[in-house]
Amino acid sequence: MTDLVTVTGHGRIAGVIGWPVAHSQSPRLHGFWLRRYGVDGAYVPLAVDPTHVEEAIRALPYLGFRGSNVTVPHKETAFRLSDRLTERARRIGAVNTLIVEPDGTLLGDCTDGYGFIENLKAGASGWQGPAGPAVVIGAGGAARAVIVALLDAGVPEIRLSNRTRERAERLAREFGPAVTVVDWDHRASALADAAVVVNTTTQGMQGHPALDLSLDRLPESAVVTDIVYTPLETPLLAAARAHGCVTVDGLGMLLHQARPGFAAWFGVEPEVDDALRAHVLAGMKRAL
Ligand code: ATR
Repeated sequence: MTDLVTVTGHGRIAGVIGWPVAHSQSPRLHGFWLRRYGVDGAYVPLAVDPTHVEEAIRALPYLGFRGSNVTVPHKETAFRLSDRLTERARRIGAVNTLIVEPDGTLLGDCTDGYGFIENLKAGASGWQGPAGPAVVIGAGGAARAVIVALLDAGVPEIRLSNRTRERAERLAREFGPAVTVVDWDHRASALADAAVVVNTTTQGMQGHPALDLSLDRLPESAVVTDIVYTPLETPLLAAARAHGCVTVDGLGMLLHQARPGFAAWFGVEPEVDDALRAHVLAGMKRAL
């Protein structure tokens, strides 16, 4: 099935800048919403190699784009080239959503943390930030967005564990006493009394080994979530489900992070529901 979206000469245009970009589900995701809401507009994949990304981003206003998403490996460049930043983009240190303002300047936003927390709330209805400590595994760019979102949701304590301890320490220093570093060898004990556990590493992704984390100490009341969504149920989520925990897969983070951009570019607040999820999943299966 092809996505037929009619665009007139007045159509609003946005896209996703990445390298590579062919694997991105964002065109399919936004295409679904464009059709659902009958928007005169288009959302296109923009494969931009790192040597030309500055020119491409600066050209967006001149090409009449309303803005664009920015994905790997360009999120830091987009951060640097933004004329203004939202508070959350500044704190996360990356930009995944560019909005062309009426005066042609670029507003940089980062909706990854927002997508993460909205997905967690939707998938684990009883979960509340203040309920208890969080354990975050991994200390890359994704971990920073997750930590900002968890702190904003009122999580009282975050235990951060990363294979390379030094990287976790550097990240923790940005946040103050609520974020503590747990040595990689002690990550399993950090799960005692945790209310939520988040994998932000690539472990568990198709083609990668499973995350090596024993859940023996984890209370059954904890929620376990993974930012990996290929497969939807990672070995970590399968183990957590068997342990009796509520689990939340990572696909919803991708769906929810797209909402603020769509609203800004196309003027409609879009909804995440089962039909959207099924549409994006079908696209992922087709790509395999
Ligand atoms: P990002 O793309 O999020 O900025 P990244 O550099 O891809 O970050 O890092 C992904 C995370 O996966 C890191 O926390 C990394 O741990 P290191 O800092 O020790 O490299 C983690 N990771 C990757 N492979 C891993 C493995 N085999 N075991 C445990 N953690 C791993």
